[in-house]
Amino acid sequence: MSPFQLTRTLAEDAMEAALRADVRHGLTRTPKELPPKWFYDARGSELFDEITRLPEYYPTRAEREILIARAPEIAAATGARTLVELGSGSSEKTRHLIDALLPGLEVYVPVDVSESALRGAGEALVAERPGLRVHALLSDFTQGIELPETAGPRLVAFLGGTIGNLLPAERREFLRGVRGVLAPGDSLLLGTDLVKVEATLVAAYDDAAGVTAAFNKNVLAVVDRELGADANPDDFDHVARWDRENEWIEMRLRARQALTVKIPELDLLVPFEAGEELRTEVSAKFRQDGVRDELADAGFSLACWWTDTAGRFALSLAAVG
Ligand code: SAH
Ligand code: AVI
Repeated sequence: MSPFQLTRTLAEDAMEAALRADVRHGLTRTPKELPPKWFYDARGSELFDEITRLPEYYPTRAEREILIARAPEIAAATGARTLVELGSGSSEKTRHLIDALLPGLEVYVPVDVSESALRGAGEALVAERPGLRVHALLSDFTQGIELPETAGPRLVAFLGGTIGNLLPAERREFLRGVRGVLAPGDSLLLGTDLVKVEATLVAAYDDAAGVTAAFNKNVLAVVDRELGADANPDDFDHVARWDRENEWIEMRLRARQALTVKIPELDLLVPFEAGEELRTEVSAKFRQDGVRDELADAGFSLACWWTDTAGRFALSLAAVG
C-alpha cells in the first residue's frame, strides 16, 4: 500500500451543492456574508501560504516558535500513535510535531477542504519521512468529523488560530464534535491567536503588499468560476476591521459603487449599494479564560497553556474529560 492515501469524504457534487447553498443564502441576506472555507481553492491556499510569510502576519511565526519549544513535551504527554490535523493546509509547522512524535507515530491524518494542499503536503511528507503513513481526508470539518480506524492514543491538532474563523456557536458545536470522536487518553492541541493592540491586529489582516487583499478577493474568483458569476474583484475594496466588542477581526469586501453581480447558475441577481459590504471572514482573538471555558463546555480540560515569548499566540493542550 502507498504510504500516502487520500479519502474524499466530501463528494464533489456535495461540495458544489454546499457552495450554491452558501452563496444563495449569504448573498440574499442583509448584511451579506460568505463562510471563509470558500477562500481555499488552489490559488487561495497558495495565497494563504504567502500570507504566513508576510512581516505583518505574526501568528504563523509565533505558533512555530511554541511548537519548536514544546513539541517534545507534547509528544511525551500524549504518546500519540495517530496525529489528526484539522485544516492542515501545507502541514508546514506540523513537521515539528511529527518529528517529535516519531517513531511511535503510526499515521498522520491531515483533514482539509483543499485537495491541492492535502496532496502537496502529504506527498512531500511521505517522501521526506520513510516509514510515516499519511491518510489525508478531503473533508469539511464543520460538517461532522469522521476519522479512519487508527491506533490510539490520538492527538487532534487544530493549529493556526483557525478555530477563530468559526463564530462562537459554531465553535461550540465543532468542539463538541471533536470530543465526540475522541476517547479517554486522547488529546486536543489547539492554536489560538490572542487579543492585543488594534494596530498590530489590523496590520496582520491588511498588509502593505496587498496579499491579504488578494486572498480576500479570491472568494469572488471562486464564485465566478464555479457558478458562472461576473463579480469583478476590481469593483471591491478589501476591508479589515477590529470589532472591539466581539474581539474579532472582520474581513469584508466593500463595493466601490452601486453594482449588480449576475450568478447565472443560481438564476440570481445580487445588487450591491455603493459602499455595501460583504463579510467574508471573522478571525476571533482569545484570552486564556475564554479558551479554558470553551474547552470545558465541550468536555475537555486544559492541561497546558503555552505562549510565544512575545505573548502574541497560545497553544493549549487539552485532555478528554
Ligand atoms: N493549519 C495551517 C493552515 C491554516 S489556513 C496553518 O496553521 O498554517 C486554514 C486551513 O483550513 C486551510 O488549509 C483551509 O483549506 C482549511 N479549511 C478552512 N475551512 C475548512 C473546513 N470547513 N473544513 C476543512 N478545512 C477547512
Ligand atoms: C486560517 N486563519 C486562521 C487565518 C486567520 O488569520 O484568521 C486566515 C486569514 N485571513 C486573513 N489572513 C489570514
